[in-house]
Amino acid sequence: MVIEVLRIGQRLVRDDRVTTHVALVSRAFGAERIFMNEVNPEIKDTVEKINKTWGGKFEVEFIDKWKNIVKKKKEEDFKIIHLSMYGQNINNVQEEIQKEKNLLIVVGAEKVPREIYELADYNVGIGSQPHSEISALAILLDRIQKGSQFEKYFANAKRKIIPTKNGKNVQVEETRD
Ligand SMILES: C[S@@+](CC[C@H](N)C(=O)[O-])C[C@H]1O[C@@H](n2cnc3c(N)ncnc32)[C@H](O)[C@@H]1O
Repeated sequence: MVIEVLRIGQRLVRDDRVTTHVALVSRAFGAERIFMNEVNPEIKDTVEKINKTWGGKFEVEFIDKWKNIVKKKKEEDFKIIHLSMYGQNINNVQEEIQKEKNLLIVVGAEKVPREIYELADYNVGIGSQPHSEISALAILLDRIQKGSQFEKYFANAKRKIIPTKNGKNVQVEETRD
């Protein structure tokens, strides 16, 4: 299954920290790419630094028009999942979504355009209470992949954590200059 994320809109007061966290959750929870607009370009540098240290090829792609991405992905046979507290309860749709092949997950920031509700194949609520795009995305990615995202191998990492009961164990790759 290929999973990509699309973040649409940002708040008038720039909310770079939340946007960065949406990107980091996407990467750490098994997505391959995030599309975003109206964001601080430094977010891409932050994610690239994380890739260099911790491995993998997660991509940040800046876009002009979110609708073009949704249309393109539909043509490429991706199913569009829009995260919204008004959507169907995740508990009732997770099994169906687990069977899909490729997914584009859309998360909002400010009030999302009405059209996305119609363009989406699934409007999914992580409960029916307002909370956060970061938590909604993390829970959706976990429900879809049933924890398997935490077994993912991040290639070419300079640092690798060896999970331990107490303390920190980090394997550091030797570099020779
Ligand atoms: C802070 S909310 C803004 C919601 C905004 N009031 C609206 O009407 O679209 C930002 C994003 O978090 C996600 N979100 C928040 N609560 C959610 C929930 N219970 N289920 C699914 N997604 C949620 C949605 O993607 C939403 O667009």
